Amino acid sequence: MAHGATDMANKPVHRVDRVRIFDTTLRDGEQSAGAGLTVDEKIRIARQLSNLGVDVIEAGFAASSPGDFESVRRIAKEIERTSVASLARVVLDDVDAAGRALDGSSNPRIHTFVSSSMIHMEHQMRKDPEEILDMAVEAVRRAKHYVDDVEFSPMDATRTDQEFLYPLLEAVIAEGATTVNIPDTVGYSTPAEFGKLIRETIKRVPNIGEAVISVHCHNDLGLAVANSLAAVENGARQVEGCINGLGERAGNAALEEVIMGLQTRNDHFGVTTGIDTREIGPTSRLISNIFGFPIQSNKAIVGQNAFRHSSGIHQDAYLKERSTFEIMEPESVGWRGEALVLGKLSGRAGLRARLSDLGYHLTGDELVTLFPRYKLLADEKREVTDLDLEALMSEQNRVTDVQSLYKLESIKVVCGNLDTPTATIIIVSPDGSKQEATETGTGPVDAVCKAADSIFERSVNLTEFAISAVTEGIDAIGEVTIRVQAADGEIYAGRGADTDIIVASAKAYINAVNRMLTMDEQGSQPLGSMVREQ
Ligand code: KIV
Ligand code: ZN
Repeated sequence: MAHGATDMANKPVHRVDRVRIFDTTLRDGEQSAGAGLTVDEKIRIARQLSNLGVDVIEAGFAASSPGDFESVRRIAKEIERTSVASLARVVLDDVDAAGRALDGSSNPRIHTFVSSSMIHMEHQMRKDPEEILDMAVEAVRRAKHYVDDVEFSPMDATRTDQEFLYPLLEAVIAEGATTVNIPDTVGYSTPAEFGKLIRETIKRVPNIGEAVISVHCHNDLGLAVANSLAAVENGARQVEGCINGLGERAGNAALEEVIMGLQTRNDHFGVTTGIDTREIGPTSRLISNIFGFPIQSNKAIVGQNAFRHSSGIHQDAYLKERSTFEIMEPESVGWRGEALVLGKLSGRAGLRARLSDLGYHLTGDELVTLFPRYKLLADEKREVTDLDLEALMSEQNRVTDVQSLYKLESIKVVCGNLDTPTATIIIVSPDGSKQEATETGTGPVDAVCKAADSIFERSVNLTEFAISAVTEGIDAIGEVTIRVQAADGEIYAGRGADTDIIVASAKAYINAVNRMLTMDEQGSQPLGSMVREQ
């Protein structure tokens, strides 16, 4: 029996010691400032989340834009073994859009939400509690026309008057909500307080046994994972969060940390999940790559240093007995430290076999496209490691997922402390014509961007530039992440990888502009404003 569940012994849902993992990387994660994904990128992530074994994928917010509607629709159609959810405000048009987007899904869920704290009801919603309760009940009723599986969230629950919260939950459960979610929307709660809220919910909502209690914690005080785990100790049986802790503001609970907390300390929590933990590393790297948010080195579970032992004393003990300084096996979370190596003499079969070990199953055509790029890389580097291969694959996927409207043909740069940095770039335009431009700048990257700008038909501003080495050594692949701001204020990320960092920068800049044009064409918009506006 899970801790804190004893007082619920007569209620079936809390006897279940399986915690459901609800991934909202594609919805709350996409609300991270500076994030924006194309439909194809979302589908690639959804496939990987399904491999990871999450129970629910919140695929988006169907009513927020045509692009989001399309992502939910396509993910719901394709992903069969995982439940697919769409967010909807307690507005009937939103619920209808979610229902339509999920039509045809084998496992659909509508997740409807409304603000319930006084501060939100008064200032954001400008409605009184009775109106809010009626809207919530009506939205759940409408959602039940489309799906059996309905989740309800009272937004800002941790700052909601509990005398209003419990009747609200009781009313939506009576209407058929199968999951009630307790969001710590502003990351305000503490573990002891949040655990108590879950205990009280179990005590004070008479029909709570008919629904699963879920939690959704934000990380404003760095407590999202701790609060989620405290909730599980006290009877919550669904945890929501994002891989790599992405999400609005400081982000959501990092799911990989929640999952490994529950698994590693099973002696304490006494619960299981349906996650294949070996898929955590590949999922984290894929999401970092596609979102363009690098993972900090010391990030728990998925950081480069998470399983590296540096001090002599630690190394000595670790070599004698691993468990002296390791509480989890790196392989159990798909961590790739000591990478295997391919060389320039390796052939297609070797490349294909290694990629398949890494989870990339290439068709013959894909291998034909990739192989020359692999050869070029192998010529430049003595050894091609797993991390190099992953960089190569994400470069290849960028070309598939973001339309290659503009393509880099060639680049030539003059720079150094005696010269004015000057770049000449040749870009293939969407109509197939080759265009050349030369510009000077404050540095070589600035010159490259200015030269590219004079070719693009839409102007953008470079707002962020970061470079990291994929592997160690002088011949490492450089991975560049760039963010650009369009004239309407929207921000788009671009990434590029190459052994030449100026070429990587040019690729990243062009990728950001291509993403902007692709998302425009798909009618995608950032989600944040919709979730805040009721
Ligand atoms: O943080 C929050 O309250 C949310 C809701 C929409 C569940 O994201
Ligand atoms: Zn949230």
